[in-house]
Amino acid sequence: MKKISINPTDLSYILWNKVLENSAIKSEIYKKDFFSKIDSLENLRAQSDYNTGSISSTTSWLLYSLVIYFKPKKIIEIGSFIGKSTISMALGADNYADEDISEIYCCDMSNNIVLPKLAKTKIKQFNKINSLEMLKKLDGNFSFDLIHIDGRLGLEDFEIIKKNINKNTIFILDDFEGKEKGVINYINFLKSEMSLNNFYLLSYPIQTETKLKFSLLEKSHSAVLIPSNLIGFSNQ
Ligand SMILES: C[S@@+](CC[C@H](N)C(=O)[O-])C[C@H]1O[C@@H](n2cnc3c(N)ncnc32)[C@H](O)[C@@H]1O
Repeated sequence: MKKISINPTDLSYILWNKVLENSAIKSEIYKKDFFSKIDSLENLRAQSDYNTGSISSTTSWLLYSLVIYFKPKKIIEIGSFIGKSTISMALGADNYADEDISEIYCCDMSNNIVLPKLAKTKIKQFNKINSLEMLKKLDGNFSFDLIHIDGRLGLEDFEIIKKNINKNTIFILDDFEGKEKGVINYINFLKSEMSLNNFYLLSYPIQTETKLKFSLLEKSHSAVLIPSNLIGFSNQ
């Protein structure tokens, strides 16, 4: 018998449509306020020691949408820089703060930028600290529900992460294209045999068709690794 197989392109179509349909109920007024907060973070570049790239408006909205969909409680971020990704996820977590309080732990090894309080969600910054140092400090304290990787991780980082995930932990890999860091991080993720704990399915970054359907204009190269535990089948 031939099987039906779902590949990373199919999964990308399903994931981003589901997640964006869920966040589409947010009003245009809310979106305006959301993006004015995110855009205001550009001013923080003046305080940076290492002035580098930040995420696009599309990635901001995707991170926000993923968080309101999956409702992670403990969020880890590598590479916070001016905080567009951190604040996008924090604003997402604000949506369910009454049911579950979420916390974000983020680090940036090159910068010491203190993020303004633009969301209710608690953010613990590890500035001028690399991922390995932060992960060693967090090791054994709680399990990570969502990990946003916008820095470069090595095998040692993944070894600590592996000990601190649960059956629902989601990974988001920024810059997943060509030979960029998202692809290198994925190779290290595979080498760490993370899938021995959970079986992970890769979802490619959002396709143009889905972006346009939800009026998202800029590029996004965020891939997502979803544990098979979070994928279900239904007849409706
Ligand atoms: C592309 S920027 C992050 C942009 C940020 N997510 C935003 O939305 O503004 C990448 C940052 O990750 C930091 N970085 C890279 N690898 C890291 C690591 N292993 N640990 C901590 N920080 C790291 C760099 O210093 C840089 O500031």
